[in-house]
Amino acid sequence: MTDTALSDLAARVASARRVTVMTGAGVSAASGVPTFRGPGGLWRHYRPEDLATRQAFARDPALVWEWYAWRRQTVAACRPNPAHEVLARWSRRDGHTLIIQNVDDLHVRAGTRDLVRLHGSLWEMTCFNGCERGTRSWRDERVPLPEMPPSCPHCGGSARPAVVWFGESLDSADVNRAFNATACDVFLTVGTSALVYPAAGLVHQARARGAFTAEINVDETPASALVDVSLRGPAEEILPAVDQLI
Ligand code: APR
Repeated sequence: MTDTALSDLAARVASARRVTVMTGAGVSAASGVPTFRGPGGLWRHYRPEDLATRQAFARDPALVWEWYAWRRQTVAACRPNPAHEVLARWSRRDGHTLIIQNVDDLHVRAGTRDLVRLHGSLWEMTCFNGCERGTRSWRDERVPLPEMPPSCPHCGGSARPAVVWFGESLDSADVNRAFNATACDVFLTVGTSALVYPAAGLVHQARARGAFTAEINVDETPASALVDVSLRGPAEEILPAVDQLI
């Protein structure tokens, strides 16, 4: 990563009216939250089809909840890092949108405003059976959960984590907000492997709509060749460096 690339990105962000940032698991790596596909990533040790699908939950809700309880316990011990803090500050500026794929809510804990959360939250639940009142998510931050697996407070059936599982659709309102935010001057992706759609398609849309596109990642991704500038390094170092130049 060159100083020129860094100051170029800072200048673009500083002069932009509309800035959209999209983050992935890499932004929380420095806080101690495991990523999915990187070294030590969750999908290196577990099979998504065993833990992150409706079928897996129907087959063995206790196993799925054991895994989510472990993830909640892990995340509960983590704190937002400088990358979250910079993006929280940026979120208070007009024209800034932050789209997140993470379910750890560290962006929320950093005080970020007006998030577009694409994949839900580890700290929220809904009714697995989809009972009328249980379709609306409720927040439960208790670690450990007193009842395992937890029940829906409305119908007594199984509660499920309010996260988007593989094979499930995202909330259309969130997808629309994310899509609308691709109409921007700068579109920056941070710490995502750019493999999971529809999130991975947003940088293509932003580029097609004329935005200056940039990426921050410790590794190369399928988006690296597409974007105007790809900054190689840890988000918790590069974002504060960009912020200082603005
Ligand atoms: N700074 C910047 N990038 C980092 C850092 C860091 N400190 N640490 C890791 N990375 C990068 C990795 O190189 C990788 O490209 O972050 C990326 C994390 O990729 P994934 O683990 O695939 O996570 P993500 O892209 O968020 O996954 C998308 O897939 O499993 C589903 O729903 C889940 O939201 C998730 C989605």
